[in-house]
Amino acid sequence: MSPPRKRILSGMRPTGRLHIGHLVGALENWVSLQETYDNFHLIADYHALTTSLDTSALYENSVEMVIDWIAAGIDPVRSPLFRQSRIKEHTELNLIFGMLITKARLERNPTLKDQVRDLEIENLTFGHLGYPVLQAADILLYRGEVVPVGEDQVPHVEITREIARKFNAEYGKVFPEPEAKLTRFARLPGLNGEMKMSKSAGNTLLISSPPEEIAAKMKRAVTDPLKVRKNDPGRPEVCLVYTYHKKFNPGGAPEVESACRSGALGCVECKGRISEAISGALAPVREKRAYLETHRDEVLDTLADGERRAGEAAAETMGRVREAMKLG
Ligand code: TRP
Ligand code: SF4
Repeated sequence: MSPPRKRILSGMRPTGRLHIGHLVGALENWVSLQETYDNFHLIADYHALTTSLDTSALYENSVEMVIDWIAAGIDPVRSPLFRQSRIKEHTELNLIFGMLITKARLERNPTLKDQVRDLEIENLTFGHLGYPVLQAADILLYRGEVVPVGEDQVPHVEITREIARKFNAEYGKVFPEPEAKLTRFARLPGLNGEMKMSKSAGNTLLISSPPEEIAAKMKRAVTDPLKVRKNDPGRPEVCLVYTYHKKFNPGGAPEVESACRSGALGCVECKGRISEAISGALAPVREKRAYLETHRDEVLDTLADGERRAGEAAAETMGRVREAMKLG
């Protein structure tokens, strides 16, 4: 018999429709990890409250995100997809974990400073400080051993390990110490040349974009500022369009690189080629998405099924926690 498969807990905050940066940075990774791990895919809707208290679009954003996940190849039969807010054990474990980590440690969390700066938060809440504690509860509730994340989330996985260690030392071993699994491909730059694609920066290409929209947005994308005229030599290494070629047009990228450098290739033509490559790569995703959009009842059933299965796994872990803590 083969050894039991390790468990993965992966999660995203529901920001609505996903963009190709999510696809390249996280989703493709999740899809390939389905082959070798047991996966749980969490919609971090409680965590979304740290960005905005307005919950009016939260449900809709969660459903849109699930549609993108499935369209991108996440198999909900193998891996439960579920909303954090539907599984009450997240909040129970969050409360217990809050006792196992100091305020000083959470204040040292580097992502807290980033969030305060990026979101211009003036009044930090208890919830902001406790963000990684809730994330630790997300991961450890499913006894996740591996957490696929980007670089920015590594401090949260480290805090999760510390909490697991503390719990185990205090009450006996219930939890694994999960490891972060860094996503292979670096983040995609945004269309405006910013380091990363993000909804708040307004520089994204949605996974669901039709070909015309991809072409139109690409037309406005920034390129090498020194390549002004068509036949000026360019520097692909500073151009985001070239980064997209490497990802979505790997076979054609070397030719693009040399033709850009020599000045044989103009940016308009180059952008036309990448728009086609991206449209082609997204075609199957778009098709699946279109089906799911018109079969929302199936999506909701999928979510309900995921929430039932996640609930069972969560209840099992909480049973162990209560037993270890003599809260029976
Ligand atoms: N903090 C993660 C992010 O912003 C989202 C998240 C919440 C998460 N819970 C998680 C990621 C558990 C991995 C595991 O990207
Ligand atoms: Fe960028 Fe292509 Fe223009 Fe070169 S030709 S600068 S790679 S868009």
